[in-house]
Amino acid sequence: MCGIIGYIGNKKAKPILINGLLRLEYRGYDSAGIATIEKDGIKIIKEKGRISNLASIDEINNLEGTIGIGHTRWATHGKPSAINSHPHSDNSKTFAVVHNGIIENYNKLRKFLQEKNYTFLSDTDTEVIPNLIHYYYKEGNNFLESVKLACDDLKGSFALEILCNDYPDNMIVVRQDSPLVIGRSLNENYISSDIPAILSFTKDFFFLNDREFALLSRDSIDFYDNNLNKIDKIVKSIEWNTSSAEKDGYDDFMLKEIYEQPNAIRETIGSKLSENKIFFNDFEIEKNYLENISRIYIIACGTAMNAGLATKATFEKFCKIPTEVEIASEFRYKEPLIDEHTLCIFISQSGETADTIAALKLSKAKNAKTIAVANVIGSSITREADFCIYTHAGPEIAVASTKAYTSQVVLLNILALYFAELLQKVPTKEINQVKKEILELPKKAEITLRNVAEVKNFANVVYKETDMFFLGRGLDYYTACEGSLKLKEISYIHSESYAAGELKHGPIALIENGVTVIGIITNPNLVEKTISNMQEVITRGAKTLVITNQKVNESQFFKVINIPNTNPYLSPVLSIIPLQLLAYYISKEKGLDVDKPRNLAKSVTVE
Ligand code: G6P
Repeated sequence: MCGIIGYIGNKKAKPILINGLLRLEYRGYDSAGIATIEKDGIKIIKEKGRISNLASIDEINNLEGTIGIGHTRWATHGKPSAINSHPHSDNSKTFAVVHNGIIENYNKLRKFLQEKNYTFLSDTDTEVIPNLIHYYYKEGNNFLESVKLACDDLKGSFALEILCNDYPDNMIVVRQDSPLVIGRSLNENYISSDIPAILSFTKDFFFLNDREFALLSRDSIDFYDNNLNKIDKIVKSIEWNTSSAEKDGYDDFMLKEIYEQPNAIRETIGSKLSENKIFFNDFEIEKNYLENISRIYIIACGTAMNAGLATKATFEKFCKIPTEVEIASEFRYKEPLIDEHTLCIFISQSGETADTIAALKLSKAKNAKTIAVANVIGSSITREADFCIYTHAGPEIAVASTKAYTSQVVLLNILALYFAELLQKVPTKEINQVKKEILELPKKAEITLRNVAEVKNFANVVYKETDMFFLGRGLDYYTACEGSLKLKEISYIHSESYAAGELKHGPIALIENGVTVIGIITNPNLVEKTISNMQEVITRGAKTLVITNQKVNESQFFKVINIPNTNPYLSPVLSIIPLQLLAYYISKEKGLDVDKPRNLAKSVTVE
């Protein structure tokens, strides 16, 4: 939520900042702004709406400065408006600040500053920050000391970039629970909320821990801990290629990412799995530990949580360990029963979701062992967890998650089988059958994508509808949940997902002539059951689409899309693909912005 970008070097900052903001726009897009240090001091330009609005302001072309900060906003405190946009400055215009996060005690700080005669122009929580820094600065502290003292007063989450008129060759950045990366290049440095936004400039990155400060100049970066003692940081080289952060000829990132799934799955399987063995390097989980755990919790938000649901059964079936899937925002407040015999697995594409990180910290405090399943290297969650395993989906830019989801489902299945091999509670032959099927998934995902024309035609028939229903049993129910979420997110069509057996307990009252009902049927043991439920809605006039890898009598449905067969535990990886495409083409038919749906953000760094 909210994207921040920064540059300090010898090139003009403005084009770099605008370019970076465009790449970060998926994080929030209700207003944007930049500040540069010009010959006559800090200059701030900001505007309501998308980055393109900001870029079309004439005045912005006069900016010559080679040091600057930028922000694209997802409003929390204060409605979207030019005045509430970042950067914000203090009353004396000495400092300019961009902020991603939420300052929870801003009311108290605002009151404190007002008593000292500071005035406020915006309704934001952020505006207290530059004024607080100024308050300490005028007491005689230097730039860095003033920022540190201000941060000591802040409660909540923040990634901050700060400019000061009196230090035209420096920038300070600091973070607490919000993402921020520093990219190093020759005689220039870049700051960003995520790696892909600056990947075309550098592959060398520094990651700050909570409340560490970086004082940047053009050719150096000094790092400090929270007591302002100098610390050393190791640079990490990122292997992602630049083209994976570009559209590569596709209309939208989402479509590109849907098509990248065979490769993302292939890369995620990587060297972890061969027909004979599963490898997790640097992973110190042993048989003895697994034998003594009483429960696994899988904790996440949104699509990542659906990936947990889609894999819970593999842990239970092959490891015989009770496995619960929890919504992170609920888990963190419900005093969960966790101790050293609990294993907590956290799934997060971005690795920055505030609720997931808070749930992780809670689990650690209660002595659970924690594993992060993340896509973004070096992200906060990977640094908090005891162990981290990565999906290798590459940068996911579209707000609606696709390739991260299928990669998460694959990786969690591999993890479950890895534990199963250690535990030996089910015959090795059964485990090997699933492993063999996992290796087939990239090819089968390619085959599934060949259904695109059929999906597009169906989208064309139903895109004007206002309600849709998704049904499934067992793992197909979880695919229904994820398919319904995709549709809501990007097409704004109201949709509901139900365990097909629940239909008769209420939802069937909503089925009337012409309503679209989508059934997912992949479990050979449940085919007839779900078909019966589909018959019940057909009788009431529903238009039905069935996604299946089983033999069904196609003539009874409006449309059937056949997908490749696989082991039932892996079917969510393939059955979701037509549903992703369906949501995509419905959104396109409606002329909506697929990659940046309204009100949403890719990375939810506030709770
Ligand atoms: C947001 C995104 C979703 C994502 C969820 C969790 O809501 O729009 O696509 O599934 O956050 O994000 P994470 O980065 O933790 O997987």
